[in-house]
Amino acid sequence: MSGQSPKRSSPLQLRRGKAPITSNRVTAVTSNSPTNKPWGGRFREATRREVEQFTTSLPFDWQLYEYDIQGSLAHCQALAQAHILTRKECQAISRGLKQVRQELHDGTFPFLESDEDIHMAIERRLRELIGPLGGKLHTGRSRNDQVTLDLRLYLRDAIQALIQRLEAVELALLDQAKRHIDVILPGYTHLQRAQPVLLAHHLLAYVEMFERDKARLCDARTRVNVMPLGSGALAGTNYPLDRQMMAQRLHFPDVTRNSLDAVSDRDYVVEVLGALSILMMHLSRLSEELVLWSTQEFGFLELPDGFCTGSSMMPQKKNPDVPELVRGKTGRVYGHLLSVLTMLKGLPLSYNRDLQEDKEPLFDAVATVHASLAIFAELVRRLRINREKMAEAAESGELLATELADYLVLQGVPFREAHHLVGRLVQLCQDKGKDLRDLTLAELQTVSPYFEADVAEWLTPMAAINRKNQLGGTARKQVESRIRLLQKQVKRTF
Ligand code: ARG
Repeated sequence: MSGQSPKRSSPLQLRRGKAPITSNRVTAVTSNSPTNKPWGGRFREATRREVEQFTTSLPFDWQLYEYDIQGSLAHCQALAQAHILTRKECQAISRGLKQVRQELHDGTFPFLESDEDIHMAIERRLRELIGPLGGKLHTGRSRNDQVTLDLRLYLRDAIQALIQRLEAVELALLDQAKRHIDVILPGYTHLQRAQPVLLAHHLLAYVEMFERDKARLCDARTRVNVMPLGSGALAGTNYPLDRQMMAQRLHFPDVTRNSLDAVSDRDYVVEVLGALSILMMHLSRLSEELVLWSTQEFGFLELPDGFCTGSSMMPQKKNPDVPELVRGKTGRVYGHLLSVLTMLKGLPLSYNRDLQEDKEPLFDAVATVHASLAIFAELVRRLRINREKMAEAAESGELLATELADYLVLQGVPFREAHHLVGRLVQLCQDKGKDLRDLTLAELQTVSPYFEADVAEWLTPMAAINRKNQLGGTARKQVESRIRLLQKQVKRTF
């Protein structure tokens, strides 16, 4: 690793001739401080209770405990390798840390109101369990590099879990697409009927969005996956801690290269929140279509009863609460992105306590997206498609007006002219109260002599669909081959 010579100076050199650091020099140094804080030495007064309550992050950062312990175990190892801890001390601290982990896991950990955050709570408990030796663990590190390590470890797991949830939604969509491969519905622009498409093509559009969401999360993960320990409070550390070794132990491919940046960087939080905001935007668009399509006006599908609620007053109501809430929660995730961006704006280097405000938005965004994806996978799997209603809506001849223009183009008529001529046919239909498909050949020929008898076969929704047989088009052949490809791609673990 850059900046660290393989032949490390020993702590004895660092201490310039003083006695080696050994456990028999350990004394309880904080016992006569007016504050019970590990940093209380310079304080004459105890922290006010309301200040403790105002500044604590424990109510939310306890969620980081597993990552904090993992980081401490790696740090402890590095201290031992650098001969700052003896092997025995390292073992005792590691054993203590594992006991603390067990207590946290079992819910028997004795939290105190005075615990400032999860890092302090764990260290405090470690010292209760193994005595003053526990006070050696924090050598050469700060909560500033510790907390960003924890957050990076947390996010790695969170990203993995979110990707799995997302894949379940994608597989549910692919399954519906396969089961309804022959279902036609009107495609819309401006929410006006435009051209017939396959329902499977429509559903696959969302799979494409979710594939991009996965790729965005994986890309963000490359910036999450950098190991900051060894940055200290802001300037680095005096001790020859093997940062590469800690990175390896914690499965990080790289280490941070600037200590000031390392303790103040939360770009990776913003990136993940950005990716989650876009993901929620996609989910909310799908939600909106489910709400719209399940109205009596559309009737394209029915949401299963188990996913809906009724009205306390109107007995006939069945409301699409799940997609509505997902749509609503999207605003909440956008808000979290904005709150972290705003918190970071104008912060001077390096660590500032403002940074503690990164956690609640991040944790809530992760939990919200996770819950939304989990319920959506189940909902999508159970959607009841009304194929007749969709087909009926796609039958209208107006959806085929473009086909009629293309028919003329194949006879050599310039597209602009063909567009105009078919426009006149649309007008004719409106005047006569007729559907475009019910016009007789003679009527069609009033605008162009190029219409011939075969125009009738040309003008069916399925024929129109299957003519879109270019890569990315709605033709059944294209859609089926995309389903096959996506099925393989989705299951490929990132
Ligand atoms: N709880 C803090 C946070 O979440 C970490 C502690 C850093 N505190 C400090 N005084 N440097 O960011």
